[in-house]
Amino acid sequence: MDGSSDPNPGAHVQVPVYSTGVEVLEKLKEQWGSGRKQAYPAMYSSVIGAIILDPAMMVIPIDDHMVHRGHGVFDTAMLMDGYLYELDAHLDRFLRSSSKAKITPPFPRETLRTILIQMTAASKCKKGSIRYWLSAGPGDFLLSPKGCPKAAFYGVVIGNDYSQCKEGVKVVTSNTPMKPPMFATMKNVNYLPNVLAVMEAEEKGAFASIWVDEQGYIAEGPNVNVAFISKSRIWCFLHSIKS
Ligand SMILES: Cc1ncc(COP(=O)(O)O)c(C=O)c1O
Repeated sequence: MDGSSDPNPGAHVQVPVYSTGVEVLEKLKEQWGSGRKQAYPAMYSSVIGAIILDPAMMVIPIDDHMVHRGHGVFDTAMLMDGYLYELDAHLDRFLRSSSKAKITPPFPRETLRTILIQMTAASKCKKGSIRYWLSAGPGDFLLSPKGCPKAAFYGVVIGNDYSQCKEGVKVVTSNTPMKPPMFATMKNVNYLPNVLAVMEAEEKGAFASIWVDEQGYIAEGPNVNVAFISKSRIWCFLHSIKS
């Protein structure tokens, strides 16, 4: 059939079927090898039980409950001059989040910490951030994690040549509903409200949007905290400021 007169050309697409991992790997390597800058110099996966340096292999199983149910928590740490900034405080928050999300880590805290440090060292990256997740783990596509034999731990190093923004930025208040406190304080992977709040800001030509609660109190930004400096240079934190 002539393509121009075909009313539904999309229906004739021939999807390749790969029966071996080798073919898939070739495709993934094609994608990552085509001059794309390697922004992720290392990943750790407890599913593999190792640090992975090949970005084509930095994958998560599709039956992982963090992927299809959002049953996962995460945290971060900035990487500056090869040092992880406030890693211990972030790890404490990470474990508080996992406890609230009822995810039992597959390793004790000290092992999680050691893995993150070894992953960062293996990356040879000196500036950027790390991000790490605890997930209910792979198992099935149900809601309950009963079918997941073991929670999973993932981490990644993200190279980034960021610099502190010293200029003012435009912000707007968000019309996207904010998360209730239980979900806002548990750092979980359900960031759709945050994504929509950022997109809303971008659509309005702003850098970020800020949530204001029902009583008019300023809460937080989609991935930042909000603080103020008064004339006497005292920080005034969120709860005391009414818009
Ligand atoms: C929703 C939200 N608020 C605040 C923050 C700031 O967190 P931190 O305490 O790590 O600076 C983040 C960082 O990821 C965030 O996602």
